[in-house]
Amino acid sequence: MFKKYIFGIALATATGFIIAGCGGETASNSNSNQSPNTGDVSSNTNNSAGNVAGAIPIGIAFAQTSNVALLGQEGVAGAKIAEKYFNDKGGVNGTPIRLVFQDTGGDEAGAINAFQTLINKDKVVGIVGPTLSQQGFSAHPIAERAKTPAIAASNTAKGIPEVGDYIARVSAPVSTVAPNSLKAALKQNPNIKKVAVFFAQNDAFNKSETEIFQQNVKDLGLELVTVQKFQTTDTDFQAQATNALKFKPDLVIISGLAADGGNLVRQLRELGYKGAIVGGNGLNTSNVFKVCKALCDGVMIAQAYSPEHPGAINQAFRQAYLQQFKSEPPQFSAQAFTAVQVYVEALKALDKKTKISNLQLPQLRSELNKQILAGKYDTPIGEISFTPIGEIVQKDFYVAQIKMNPDGNTGKFAFIK
Ligand code: ALA
Repeated sequence: MFKKYIFGIALATATGFIIAGCGGETASNSNSNQSPNTGDVSSNTNNSAGNVAGAIPIGIAFAQTSNVALLGQEGVAGAKIAEKYFNDKGGVNGTPIRLVFQDTGGDEAGAINAFQTLINKDKVVGIVGPTLSQQGFSAHPIAERAKTPAIAASNTAKGIPEVGDYIARVSAPVSTVAPNSLKAALKQNPNIKKVAVFFAQNDAFNKSETEIFQQNVKDLGLELVTVQKFQTTDTDFQAQATNALKFKPDLVIISGLAADGGNLVRQLRELGYKGAIVGGNGLNTSNVFKVCKALCDGVMIAQAYSPEHPGAINQAFRQAYLQQFKSEPPQFSAQAFTAVQVYVEALKALDKKTKISNLQLPQLRSELNKQILAGKYDTPIGEISFTPIGEIVQKDFYVAQIKMNPDGNTGKFAFIK
């Protein structure tokens, strides 16, 4: 924690911005927000026979501290809205669910710890998370070995569901999502020819996403003029940005996370770059507004969720989010809500076949996993189902463009028609 706090300060100092959600600050905020049940898990999780008794515990393993909290806190928000929504509707055939939050921090070790605690101590029926694919490739094998379902709600790298039989995701992969933003950029400016690509080379998702972007650039007959690499922990991009701008690109594509990605956008603009910018899934949060401020304006990002999506459940989710946060719900919140919904509906269906309270935890986890994969779900991100290996089947995708307000601090994702 101390190290993370130092890192937060270093970053804020280096960039000249205080990024809310960094280091220690987020830790205390998130903890005070946690559901009152968090941590108090031994009392009603398992009875002496090893069955789940009382409220049904579902684990939520998102980043609530570190720079990755810029993404993770949106997941936490979506999951909490889902907990209240589904419990108000009677939970699982009359039995409430109880979300158990474990902070993954931003690295693999934190995600592994969170998964182990949720599985062995909190004895959850299944887990939502972790925040990054980079963490998922380390933590998901833990769930797989423990035969405990894990639904990724923000992991978009290639290969996540393939980690094992118990791993599924509701976050559509880079191959489905990323090309949409490139298409939108070309529609806005058909004269785009030269493309510069940047990616964070220390992160599995960003390596996966840039492959898709780079292939897509070539397939569209565009010229890939340069590929620049950085680290998700970098704050200074002068060297890479200066190198890339020598090629006079018409479009820059960035695969990074929120703080690094936002800083890169800012520094490109400060160096005089005027062309289009496409950001990947790691920049898909209004938390970048604090980083690139007015210079975020115009960045295009593909979306696997639209607040305008028709249907009663999205309307309820959107209203609840708007009421609490006074802004439109972001994709990561909608995906986290969806993952909790999948658990609730799969548990309901299973309970109708075999009373959940009669099942021992190992049997419940494995029956639940089968039920998750068999179901069809009408969710805020649309109607979804899973392939036999746990990949999401989703129909609707969108592209949004950041529109900053004249104050240079606030803004929104304006959906491109
Ligand atoms: N989509 C990002 C990842 O998979 C957050 O890591």
